[in-house]
Amino acid sequence: MAKMKSVADSKYVVFDGMDGSGKGTQIELLKKKFPDVVFTYEPGGTPFADEIRKIVRDNPLAGKSTPLNNFLLFWAAREELLHNLIVPSLQSGKHVFSDRGDSSTFAYQIYGEQNSELMSPFFEMRKLVFEKVGRQSPHLYIVFDLPAEVAHARVMAAGGSKRNHFDTRKLDYYERVRAGFRNFAAHVDTVVFMDAEKTPEEIHEIVLRALAMRNILAT
Ligand code: TYD
Repeated sequence: MAKMKSVADSKYVVFDGMDGSGKGTQIELLKKKFPDVVFTYEPGGTPFADEIRKIVRDNPLAGKSTPLNNFLLFWAAREELLHNLIVPSLQSGKHVFSDRGDSSTFAYQIYGEQNSELMSPFFEMRKLVFEKVGRQSPHLYIVFDLPAEVAHARVMAAGGSKRNHFDTRKLDYYERVRAGFRNFAAHVDTVVFMDAEKTPEEIHEIVLRALAMRNILAT
């Protein structure tokens, strides 16, 4: 008799990386292949979290607020998404694949935007949300990694209309974000890096292997 999938088998996987890393292309390929997986994204993913997204991502006033406020807003959107979508989906036996997660807050707010004073609040927030409140933390982070120059050039080549205010940043910002993802992996042991300079097809195969190796999805 086939083994029934238990709730404990459901996994929460975060896909992350610099803008221009090809993360979006990989997620689209996974969406086509795995229709039963719940796909979501940060910031946003529920009606209320999408409202927070509009503030932190699209409202220029966010840029005028404090780094701590922006940091808290990303965590507020995350708590909403965990409570209303991620945890219930896992409980219903589904895998959840998220486009970005707390790894982005670490890489962007602390490293990219150079707010080292947020390092200790970051780990306090992780403790609060994932341990004290007990939300499920990601079982795996897949980070698409490539040289900052390549990612920056890809975003610049994508042209004006597709860009948001996060995309007009300079090369040194990308370098810091890349270092941020690497440092995140020094603190959290469930992070794997993918070489995002390979072709989309090659990367897709490597992602599928990484998921299969961890018994998340068999191809
Ligand atoms: P989005 O249009 O969703 O971009 P992408 O397709 O690159 O994910 O914009 C999200 C932007 O928000 C992206 O530049 C990264 C940034 N971000 C943070 O700065 N901190 C965070 O915690 C998260 C989740 C995203």
